[in-house]
Amino acid sequence: MTGKPYLTGHYTPAVDETTATRLTVEGILPPELTGRLIRNSHNPKPGITPTHWFKGSGMVHGIRLRDGHAEWYRNRWVHTPALDGAPYMTDAGPDLTASTAGTHVIEHAGRLLALCEANFPFELTRDLDTVGAYDFNGRLRSAMTAHPKTDPVTGELHFFGSSPLPPFLTYYVADAKGEITHSAEIPGATASLKHDFAITRHHVVFVEGSVTFDPNEHSGIPYGWRDDQPARIGVMPRGPQGAGKIRWFPIAPGNILHTANAYEDAQGRIVLEGPTVDREGFHLSWNWWVGAPGRSTEPNARSRTRRWTIDLVAVTVDERTIDDLAVEFPTLNDEFIGAEHRYQYAVSFPDHHGFGGYGIVKYDRLTGDRRVHEVGDARLPSEAVYVPAAGATNEDDGYLLTVVSDLKQDASQLLVLNASRLDPVATVHLPRRVTAGIHGSWIPDAALDGNQN
Ligand SMILES: [Fe+2]
Repeated sequence: MTGKPYLTGHYTPAVDETTATRLTVEGILPPELTGRLIRNSHNPKPGITPTHWFKGSGMVHGIRLRDGHAEWYRNRWVHTPALDGAPYMTDAGPDLTASTAGTHVIEHAGRLLALCEANFPFELTRDLDTVGAYDFNGRLRSAMTAHPKTDPVTGELHFFGSSPLPPFLTYYVADAKGEITHSAEIPGATASLKHDFAITRHHVVFVEGSVTFDPNEHSGIPYGWRDDQPARIGVMPRGPQGAGKIRWFPIAPGNILHTANAYEDAQGRIVLEGPTVDREGFHLSWNWWVGAPGRSTEPNARSRTRRWTIDLVAVTVDERTIDDLAVEFPTLNDEFIGAEHRYQYAVSFPDHHGFGGYGIVKYDRLTGDRRVHEVGDARLPSEAVYVPAAGATNEDDGYLLTVVSDLKQDASQLLVLNASRLDPVATVHLPRRVTAGIHGSWIPDAALDGNQN
């Protein structure tokens, strides 16, 4: 028993790889949910105690749905060299192929990629076996963020690689066929930790917060809060000449782990939203992530949604906290990535006053309405993945898929919520408790057409 918060309770790692078929379903699974929900988490092998939550090797959990049935569940470690102890850093520099690959999993051009921001992605088969490190046929020359963005209009994949050492920030675009067509080092970037970013129809939006390279941090993740690290938002036009035109706008100190979305409003201003922590909130999360003695307070307890409105002509930034609920893991209907969205979803956490609890939150940005689906005592939902309904006409005509860790029953379920009403339509009972984790994606079968794996 290590006592590390990221190895206990909801986060207790799975000890093996399993496969189960013909899962029990309560309610009615919509038949258009034909595909796979794949969710990643940090899940070190038994006997291994990572020095930071993020250093735990990745494990993907997959749930295969088809025509109203839940055909299988399987969990697999992402078999990278790091799983067997290979170091990230060698005498020759960082080893980009030694990833934990434990942060996210996405699909692009029919390829499934397990992601971690410090390394190359790792390709998976549709049955979650590991193919190996993937470098876009040699065109990826840096690490790759765990939060690439698929442009719903062009099908392009926009992403970046960041590093605590120069070059600090490299931007990439892969076309809908998966070929990197453009990359550029971004001038003016610093070592500030960049976990996520955003795109709009015409711009790319980078965020540099108050957390930056700290060579004295010994958890294995070399970052820390610095008051003298300027917090900024970088806005650059999309396209091959964009990097040279990036403009940086100072903002208040903070750390923005995830962006909810960004878009250009009717006045041409850039609007960006996402959960943000102040210095105290960052340290609270960091202490949990490193398992600091006596510091077991829930991470995200001081994470509040913030909005930045950047006027490119007046050269001003209006910024404000827009909700008092502690939330993280923002999601939306991905068809609205880069465009003004009405609905946004998130996971709520108990805050540092003990107010609130675990739940799935829906925001209506038009009416200001906020609704919470409480998942129950000792139950922790994962990121709510939005899947459109067949024939959807409204932005919220769809479903939210979340994997719930249930400590009392020592079990997990896939919960399917109607995204419009935020009520359950189906529950899939999983054969084991799924380690609480980080990000995941819904991969419809059509996306894997042509995938040979
Ligand atoms: Fe993330």
